[in-house]
Amino acid sequence: MLIPEMSGRASSPVLVGRVEQMAALEAAFVSVRQGGPSAVLLGGEAGVGKSRLVSDFSRTAASAGARVLTGGCLELGTDGLPFAPFTAVLRDLVHEMGADAVASMLPGRTTRGLARLLPELGEPDTGGDPAEARARLFEEVLRALEHLSRHSPVVLVIEDAHWADRSSRDLLTFLIGNQRSLSGLLIVVTFRSDELHRTHPLRPLLASLDRIAWVERIELPRLTRQDTRELAVRILGREPAEELAEALYHRSEGNPLFIEALLCCDGELSPELPESLRDLLLESVRRLPEDTQEVLRVASAGGEATGHALLAEVSGLDDAALTRAVRPAVIANVLHPRGDGYAFRHELIREAVHEDLLPGEHGRLHSRFAEAIDADPTLVPPGRAAIEMAHHWHSAHDSAWALIGAWRAAAQAGRAVAAAERLSLLARVLELWDQVPDAAERIDADHVRVTEEAVSAAHDAGEYERGVALATSALRELDPAADPVRVAHLLVRRSEFKKKLGRKDYVEELEEALVYVPADVSAASRIEVLLALAHCPPKITVERSYVEEAMALARQAGDEASEAEALLTLAFFSADPGQQAASGSGPLELVAQARDLAGHRGGQSVLLRAAVAESHLLEGAGEHELAAEAARRGTEGAEVQVVSRTSGSVLAVNRAESLLALGRWDEAEATATAAMDRFLAPGPMNRALLHVMAGSVQLGRGDLTAAGRSMMTARDALRSVRYEDQHQLPLARLEILYALAKGGPAAALAATSQTLDRFELGGSSPRYSWPVVIAGASAVLAGLRLAGLSHDERLRDDSAGIADRLHTVAEKLETFGPLQRALALTYAAADADTARLIAAFPDGSGSSASDETAGLLAAWDEAAVAWDGLGEPYSLGETLLHAAEVALACGDRDGAASRLERAAPLAAALGAQPLAGQIALLARRARIRLSASAGSEVAPGDAGADDGELGLTERELEVLRLVAEGRSNREIAGELFISPKTASVHVSNILSKLGVSNRGEAAARARSLRLFDPTSTA
Ligand SMILES: Nc1ncnc2c1ncn2[C@@H]1O[C@H](COP(=O)(O)OP(=O)(O)OP(=O)(O)O)[C@@H](O)[C@H]1O
Ligand SMILES: [Mg+2]
Repeated sequence: MLIPEMSGRASSPVLVGRVEQMAALEAAFVSVRQGGPSAVLLGGEAGVGKSRLVSDFSRTAASAGARVLTGGCLELGTDGLPFAPFTAVLRDLVHEMGADAVASMLPGRTTRGLARLLPELGEPDTGGDPAEARARLFEEVLRALEHLSRHSPVVLVIEDAHWADRSSRDLLTFLIGNQRSLSGLLIVVTFRSDELHRTHPLRPLLASLDRIAWVERIELPRLTRQDTRELAVRILGREPAEELAEALYHRSEGNPLFIEALLCCDGELSPELPESLRDLLLESVRRLPEDTQEVLRVASAGGEATGHALLAEVSGLDDAALTRAVRPAVIANVLHPRGDGYAFRHELIREAVHEDLLPGEHGRLHSRFAEAIDADPTLVPPGRAAIEMAHHWHSAHDSAWALIGAWRAAAQAGRAVAAAERLSLLARVLELWDQVPDAAERIDADHVRVTEEAVSAAHDAGEYERGVALATSALRELDPAADPVRVAHLLVRRSEFKKKLGRKDYVEELEEALVYVPADVSAASRIEVLLALAHCPPKITVERSYVEEAMALARQAGDEASEAEALLTLAFFSADPGQQAASGSGPLELVAQARDLAGHRGGQSVLLRAAVAESHLLEGAGEHELAAEAARRGTEGAEVQVVSRTSGSVLAVNRAESLLALGRWDEAEATATAAMDRFLAPGPMNRALLHVMAGSVQLGRGDLTAAGRSMMTARDALRSVRYEDQHQLPLARLEILYALAKGGPAAALAATSQTLDRFELGGSSPRYSWPVVIAGASAVLAGLRLAGLSHDERLRDDSAGIADRLHTVAEKLETFGPLQRALALTYAAADADTARLIAAFPDGSGSSASDETAGLLAAWDEAAVAWDGLGEPYSLGETLLHAAEVALACGDRDGAASRLERAAPLAAALGAQPLAGQIALLARRARIRLSASAGSEVAPGDAGADDGELGLTERELEVLRLVAEGRSNREIAGELFISPKTASVHVSNILSKLGVSNRGEAAARARSLRLFDPTSTA
């Protein structure tokens, strides 16, 4: 052979160490085989052995019958090559199974969507709404994996995610989020954790994935001293001398790539001390013959893998000469054969060689690559020529060609629905513009045109700040008199960006645009502006005229899509300001018309929005069943589902809201959590609402820890969102109720006060204000009761103060439809109850019978009838409890008993333990024995149980009372004449019986059940 010293093994034939990490991967695989979703995020520094671990694991998985699909992210990804790892996976699949077999796995048996990634699959879909196209593409990848994993388990490995392009990151997130529907798929993602600087785009992605239950994060550490030694043995084929082993560990610090490089050939440590890993890696290259090194230099400019023919073309060697030159590099384990070409064994080696190029050599090589590909695009994989050329010309610093290349590649990225990549390529065109005197002629598009394209890419990519800047720059170049339509369109876009960014001045843009495009200039353009204007609150009357004009124009022009949109907008305007509409009413008729029109032409997004509008309006009217059903139907049609997977979180919010009201709490919570996983980035507002829904169920069930967590997450999500009642107010309501459960009346009053300070409740939609007012009123009632019991004048005054403020708000609130009527009735009863308690102070129970209290009882009963009619069991149960308290206060024990008897099974069926506990407690205080059917399912609040309240023994109740007073175990022991150890045993029994995790929660639970109210022991 040419190079005798190459005989030593450069790497170990067996995997050293890594027992724990391998076990974790295998466990994930087992769980996938059992049908569960599972994803592993494997991080570690460069060269630490991520790829090695995964490839060894993959081999095991494959021999256990799994299909392993591997795709690597390329550094080129940051240069605008979209979906790189997925393209690689698909290409392998097509190679293995044939295009027809791949097509047969997809909906409609067509690969036109996937062809956007892989031109080998034929003509791609073009045109259409990019967001829909992208959603469809994501769905197709999902379906293909689903299909594959039906036959055998699939391991999808995405390597080097730190280089992942934005599109790949999105698709990966989508797949992991939807993994529940993919039983049999294990996703493994590797990335260099040492490259994740503070603003690295992978960081937020990892953080959001981390929150998913089935995602596991593994960090691969360096090898231990012992493993380092073991690796040396495996590489050398014999035991190393003691000093060698020590020195090796010292210098490599346990990084396997270092170890390999240090031991490279002759079993000795390289004598010189290389400055860095880079030098170390270069050493192994420098030992190779000069013509081999020359080829390596060429290949280093070609990227992570280069085809044989392309390498021959660029290096100017013929076939045989190239093979001869390459062979020593393969033997020395610097290059690996890959497909019909070569790849560097490790990316760091390629980087080292590439960085070592002289400046002139660097530019020249990249130009030669670009020219070779230009002359023969088949030298690179199909679909890659444009982006490869763009990359090479850019790296060669040839401005003119770099500009042309970026322009062409941008078009390619557009076809691949990779908006972010398209945007960065167009930005490059704009950047280079001034350096290329005849740029416009060369790409046959002027500067404004390129900017306009960039605006549209920014729109699709959700890059709103950049969008504003780009639109502004384009507008500066255009004259509205000469180009009214273009100007109007840019103004609409800029307005949309500003609105998304929460800026105020977005309406003026549209008003200006409207002036430029009268109907005789362009009906289509005018419709666009009108519809955008119609969505700018809050000038209802003007908006109505906008939308009516848009509808008329759309009809004239036969533009059904716009007409359907106008109808939906009109439906909202026709619903009253209470944002509700009963089934069969005018607004819902309009929605139905929109749906019919959209149905004709398959406008998915209109269908989706119609479902959103319908469920929203019905829910507002208290028609919960119909609303839940409308939301569910909206996600049903397979085609709509394609879009809804990525943009349908609103429907999930609506559905969860209705289910919550119906008392179908398990379904509500499941709907909300599934949507959080699936729509990892549904935007802060919807994300917040999903957490509020989940939090409401958790709070109702008494899981304060989970409820607190949900609330914090929702609060974080809404922090930077400008005020919108439909998002902020449900959270405010939850915050008040949470404070009441956790911290008692004082905390709840403080939360109510804050809410009243922050939001103009009287001026907000009654749909969202009423529930907040009710929550505040329950804080007031709880405050007054406690104040009465403890003769606490300050608490009484605070409660009365808040009551006054709530009163002022309530007077301003109108009431629309049966749901708001129920809320208003509840408020009226609570308000009257408040007056009673204030009048009766300090005798909190207000124990005299009078006409007034009889009227009050009737008020609560009326509210209960309203909730019953709406089918809302929780509100009904709460209202009955209030009614029972009042009945008791007038000495009507039978009246109290019958109401509690109704309320108890409602709470039990919901699993609403705190409410059940309050019901049981009131019954116990009044010495009312609830029938078994009423109380039997209420485990912790079971008043009839032999061992006392909540299943606690007398002793435990005593201990709990002291815990609630904030006493330590030692103090409790002193008080009860027991040892501190016994006290601590009592405390832990209490915690487990109450189902809480610490003393604070136990105290809060005791408070919320009013367990130690003076009257409760009377
Ligand atoms: N546990 C191990 N046993 C034997 N060899 C190993 C082990 N870990 C890594 N190696 C070897 O060390 C070298 C570097 O490992 P690998 O390529 O897996 O690193 P990596 O973490 O994937 O790095 P990068 O972030 O650069 O992709 C490889 O040649 C690999 O075979
Ligand atoms: Mg690797």
